[in-house]
Amino acid sequence: MSEKYFPLDKAALDELALKYQTPFYLYDEKAIIENVRRIKAAFSVFPAYKNHFAVKALPNPYILKLLAAEGFGADCASLPELLLAEISGMKGEDIMLTSNETPTKEYIAAKNMGAVINLDDFTHIEFLEKKAGLPDLISMRYNPGPLKEGNAIIGKPEEAKYGFTREQLIKGYSLLKEKGVKRFALHTMVASNELSVPYHIETARMLFELAAEILSKTGVRLEFINLGGGVGIPYKPDQTAVDYEVLAVGIKKAYNEILAPAGLDPMEIRTEWGRVVTGPYGWLVARAVHKKEIYRSYIALDACMADLMRPALYGAYHHITIPGKENPAQAESQTLTETYDVVGSLCENNDKFAIQRQLPKIVTSAENGKGDFVVIHDAGAHGRAMGFNYNGKLRCGELLLRVDGSVAQIRRAETVDDYFTTLDISGVKDFY
Ligand SMILES: Cc1ncc(COP(=O)(O)O)c(C=O)c1O
Repeated sequence: MSEKYFPLDKAALDELALKYQTPFYLYDEKAIIENVRRIKAAFSVFPAYKNHFAVKALPNPYILKLLAAEGFGADCASLPELLLAEISGMKGEDIMLTSNETPTKEYIAAKNMGAVINLDDFTHIEFLEKKAGLPDLISMRYNPGPLKEGNAIIGKPEEAKYGFTREQLIKGYSLLKEKGVKRFALHTMVASNELSVPYHIETARMLFELAAEILSKTGVRLEFINLGGGVGIPYKPDQTAVDYEVLAVGIKKAYNEILAPAGLDPMEIRTEWGRVVTGPYGWLVARAVHKKEIYRSYIALDACMADLMRPALYGAYHHITIPGKENPAQAESQTLTETYDVVGSLCENNDKFAIQRQLPKIVTSAENGKGDFVVIHDAGAHGRAMGFNYNGKLRCGELLLRVDGSVAQIRRAETVDDYFTTLDISGVKDFY
């Protein structure tokens, strides 16, 4: 079971909404820091450990800066993400470029920054050499194909476009060694939002066995092993969060059984977690605008799937609470609850935050001029970042609840001017 919390009560939210119009994202700084410290404490069983936070999960430099202050690095998938990491004070090998089908300019930028380049394909060895030159340290991404089961979000490894086969990896390390590369690392990313601890331990075991094989076949001694991202969070209240300590101890057991006898101790362990770092500590806060009764009852919010795409994209569950109406006794009472589809204003029928969800009776702004707040939980990773402008929808801003209880705006909401910013409309009038 996971407890769903929201850090502000209704009165505090009322006050906040006087300054910042809904919808907005709210992140809890204190909870993120405490979570990061729990992760680091659990993984202190290894001689060295670093998480490269997956920037794509929450690409905001204020958040990245606080993660950097806690000793986390960044995992970047593009040039703008590399720049975000740099702006946030991360430097050199604190930054890892794990991209795929990587364009030349991203390789060049990563090389110039001294970031760790994680190659996605055998042919990229030559490509990187030609376009940017080979750095001292190179990592490669392993795709185990049929040797490892994937999961619903990421799919089966053998159908995934990412990474090297086992044979290509062995050839890759030998080739890079011949070309004078001195330092090496190994990476994989085989699951997304996976709550099973044994699954993640198995992934580590697979990489540790591969590291031993690489050493025996090529003489390459890896400097670090990156277990990738993909640790899940309990979106549903009846799911249980991953226990970091059980996970770290399980991985350490595999380390002791495989890496140590192979002569690979000490080995630095790295991860690329995003979702589990910030996901449970971010909320999309909206207001109910309209109520519609046709064949179902609909509550329409001032947010839409342009603000949070996961329910539409994956059919993902996000817990919803109504501040001021949290009392479970009330929520369970048939007379005080309704079954709603909670929707946005986008012209797509999958623009639904919840389908046939039993919720406290919601009052809309059409009814009372204000409307109930509707809090969508676990939106702190892969949330706003996946937003878009389809239907001319403008993405909402981001607020950070600071440790001292104050609130900082860390990204403003988009405006109509932002929507037009890439268009030069001066030429339209005389175009035809
Ligand atoms: C290469 C890579 N690393 C790390 C992550 C982060 O995954 P998560 O946020 O699920 O931990 C992703 C997510 O898509 C990814 O593609």
